[in-house]
Amino acid sequence: MSTILVQGYHLLKGEIEIQGSKNAVLPMMAAAVLHKGTTVLEHVPRIQDVFCMMGILESMGCTCALEGHRLTVTASDLRDVRIPEKNGKAMRSSIMLLGALLGRCGEACVHYPGGCSIGSRPIDMHLSALGKLGAVFSEEGDVIHALSGKLRGAHITLPYPSVGATENILLASVAAEGTTILKGAAMEPEVESLCRMLKSMGADIQGEGTGVLRIRGVRELHDTVYDVPGDRIVSGTYMSAVMAAGGEAVFRRSSPGHLEQVVRTMERMGARVRISGGDMEIKAAGRPKAICIETGPYPGFPTDLQSMMLVLLTLGDGEGCLKETVFEGRFATAKELHKMGAEIIIEGKEAHVAGGYSLKGTDVQARDLRGGAALVVAGLAAEGVTRIGDCRHIFRGYEDICGDLGCLGADIRRER
Ligand code: UD1
Repeated sequence: MSTILVQGYHLLKGEIEIQGSKNAVLPMMAAAVLHKGTTVLEHVPRIQDVFCMMGILESMGCTCALEGHRLTVTASDLRDVRIPEKNGKAMRSSIMLLGALLGRCGEACVHYPGGCSIGSRPIDMHLSALGKLGAVFSEEGDVIHALSGKLRGAHITLPYPSVGATENILLASVAAEGTTILKGAAMEPEVESLCRMLKSMGADIQGEGTGVLRIRGVRELHDTVYDVPGDRIVSGTYMSAVMAAGGEAVFRRSSPGHLEQVVRTMERMGARVRISGGDMEIKAAGRPKAICIETGPYPGFPTDLQSMMLVLLTLGDGEGCLKETVFEGRFATAKELHKMGAEIIIEGKEAHVAGGYSLKGTDVQARDLRGGAALVVAGLAAEGVTRIGDCRHIFRGYEDICGDLGCLGADIRRER
């Protein structure tokens, strides 16, 4: 089990480049399956979830080569529509292959997906939408067998702008016969990036970045080379690190255009942020201001940065609150923060954070990907040493959190 050790109370200062986005690259890797040729992705993060998806694609007959941050996927010899249980359960994004395989082969066999334990994560919207495109499903235990023959375009309205369901519908409908109109689509930047990547392969999609997508199926896609955008959640995590530890930093390729709500929130908490092209500079000193924050679908405040906000509110200058509207059960990190001296009361979807506390380093456990990263942020502002156990969750999404924060002057190391 790997552990991260953080010695707190070091101001941060410096400049780093932000890795490519996990939530953008995984559906793009699924999209590569749609094409009987080669897809090249640049600026790919070297993270566990990418390695896991490569394993799945290879088990299905694709060839994958990750050289530095350039990933080449060739799917001309795809021969299996089954996703191995171990990989499928390790990563929620494996469900993206359902739409892609139906689009390519008219058949798929997937497991109910795994990933972080952040509340119940049903896939009913995915199945119902793919059903409208012509798929029929049978289930055996936690295995879903989907059959469709040639998919047909349909009118679909999502009852909630689910990111995963939107991506699955996109992947299936680009290869369907006829036109699909999707209303209530998720507007997350990663969905928009997937649309742009599919368009670079020859897909016919209109409305990317809006809640209504119009997808006209095409017979064939072609080779592409596509640049994965910077990870807005990693940018937000490192901005929180500067807020917690104090100091100033510049983040290159930080996708500031996708962080409007986050920048506004950090400014309300007292940070000074300057944006120039893809770069973002943040300066912070003293306790963050106590405020109330509510998570929501894009362009709302991202649920993936909620745990980091719990940390900042704990350090805040008064009582703050946080309302989680996307996932129930995403407050597991509060328990770990209690061990460090935080006062957080959870009432249903809301967390009330006392603020004004000094955190103390101790042994804590990463319970999920973002929650684990939030504990690293807490460690930066804590007295003494914080040992974060079970860090495998963190490495699913952060390529080198110790190297990045170390570059900014944090005293942090990984112990295997
Ligand atoms: C979600 C986040 C996304 C984040 C990702 C990883 C939102 C809207 N989505 O995407 O920003 O990057 O987690 O942490 O912020 N739901 C159903 N049935 C379904 C699908 C979803 O009820 O078939 C519900 C979920 O339980 C959840 C909500 O819809 O309450 C949002 O889920 P969804 O957007 O699909 O989750 P992810 O795609 O994992």
